[in-house]
Amino acid sequence: MKKIQDFQKMKSDGQKISMVTCYDYVSATIANHSNVDAVLVGDSAAMVMHGFDTTINASLDMMAIHVGAVRRGAPDKFLIADMPFLAHRRGMKLTMEAVDALLKAGGEAIKIEGGEGQFDIISHIVESGVPVMGHLGLTPQSIHQLGGYKVQGRENSKATSLQNQAKELERAGIFALVLELVPSRLAEKITDTLSVPTIGIGAGPKTSGQVLVWQDVLGMNNGFNPKFLRKYLNGYELIANALNQFDADVKTQKFPSTEESF
Ligand code: KIV
Repeated sequence: MKKIQDFQKMKSDGQKISMVTCYDYVSATIANHSNVDAVLVGDSAAMVMHGFDTTINASLDMMAIHVGAVRRGAPDKFLIADMPFLAHRRGMKLTMEAVDALLKAGGEAIKIEGGEGQFDIISHIVESGVPVMGHLGLTPQSIHQLGGYKVQGRENSKATSLQNQAKELERAGIFALVLELVPSRLAEKITDTLSVPTIGIGAGPKTSGQVLVWQDVLGMNNGFNPKFLRKYLNGYELIANALNQFDADVKTQKFPSTEESF
């Protein structure tokens, strides 16, 4: 299993870091068998596993169940657990209970969205011995404040603010930073000014690594086709075709065969 120091070393050596999200046991066994460097149990679980419109519906209980399932399926992968909506905004005691729950469920690290307002919380968690991954740019838990899923940091003032927040997060002790939906040039600047690695999603090629959501990278989410996404499998068609083949075999009595029967 990789350690936080390995991610730092990969950045120093100019080696790119790959990360995928994962939410369930069987998929985690596949991630475990793959070469990906890290697995994120993202609060995107609320959307891709539970069908909600935003990540706001992710709860601590929901996250802990997914973290546990992924831990059991991917014992050899560094596992980052997302702090769900508001879990770290209800005072330090409840924040630490949430961190405790996610680590006991199987996470090695947690991820917290946002910069401003989170620095003290993050340094307390890091000082408590828990690795924290930051997340700037499009922070989906603030979707109603951001006014939609759009590229962040196009204006100079917003870009400068994101650069400053990235620096503050590094001072607070994050071991890596997710940059979501920011212009490539800004992601490159932030990556160059930080010593910790950046992991991009919709942030261009110059970040220290890339992350994609499981259902997106495998092409299972038919209606989701943003510019930044590359689908490495047409999962939607392949799975639907397999189900249709099963349906046809059942109806034509080709399944089960004598060999498949007792
Ligand atoms: O929840 C999630 O899946 C994420 C990634 C998109 C980085 O935060």
